[in-house]
Amino acid sequence: MTRHFLRDDDLSPAEQYEVLSLAASLKQAPYDSQSLAGPRTVATIYDKPTLRTQASFAAGIAELGGNPMMVDGTLAGIGRRESVADVARVLGRQASVIVWRTYAQAALDEMAQYAGVPVVNALTDEFHPCQLLADLLTIREHKGELPGLTVAFVGDGACNMGNSWLLAGATAGLHVRIASPEGHQPEPQYVERASEIARETGATAEVMTAPQAAVAGADVVVTDTWVSMGREEEAAARLAAFADYTVTADLMGRAGPDAIVMHCLPAYRGKEIDSEVLDGPASVVWDEAENRRHAQKAIITWLLRGTEVTEEGLL
Ligand code: NVA
Repeated sequence: MTRHFLRDDDLSPAEQYEVLSLAASLKQAPYDSQSLAGPRTVATIYDKPTLRTQASFAAGIAELGGNPMMVDGTLAGIGRRESVADVARVLGRQASVIVWRTYAQAALDEMAQYAGVPVVNALTDEFHPCQLLADLLTIREHKGELPGLTVAFVGDGACNMGNSWLLAGATAGLHVRIASPEGHQPEPQYVERASEIARETGATAEVMTAPQAAVAGADVVVTDTWVSMGREEEAAARLAAFADYTVTADLMGRAGPDAIVMHCLPAYRGKEIDSEVLDGPASVVWDEAENRRHAQKAIITWLLRGTEVTEEGLL
């Protein structure tokens, strides 16, 4: 069976632990996995802007012994010039893994259905699961074992990062609190799914409006842009809606002792987070950015291991 990483809950709690442990060991010994030796090719496609994702996949794929192939999403016109299914069948004959940043989760699902090789979500409107692997690795490095820690996500809970924190956090056994204004809270389906996973892991998932309540005693405070890619036309309304959700030094003062602050970047200083917090001692954002590479190397290696044992012998 070909495994994919399309959303955070594609990994069971045990599998997520395994991938994070592999990421930690690859951080110590970057060339220990040569899962793409040959070199085998990974097709990477970006339909939205990117810096960290493109850089960390390209560097990580090279460290795994592989060849990072850039497919220009604009030239390819996936879903417009030809169907997602046709692109999937073509790329699946050239590459051992397909990495795609796009808009609709349904398009990514279709890519996975037809590719015949593992497909990795490099961000969709709904989820950003590679970021969450990097973030969980970062928390482990700074706070130790994950189960029982409390994470407060402050801001746009209805964006990909809010959804991914719910699912990945529940999988990791974290207590996840999302503080967002009405109208910008995660859809009930994601809260329900997180609660379902939480019953197995001992996690909890809560959505609230007050940032102060979410942050109280938290081990980790997280935020993200108020205007996700593709939402630029709503910028003015969003800046107004989120005006009381800035992560300030004062808000951080309500978190637990030695709380860390995280942001997937790019950050808009003075909007979702103040400079003194982002650039201050609690910030671990550069570790997060680095850990994208280690986490993505781990998920690629792990997916290929799973796929290699199939009877179709796809790879
Ligand atoms: N929520 C943000 C994440 C950026 C990495 C966006 O989708 O633009």
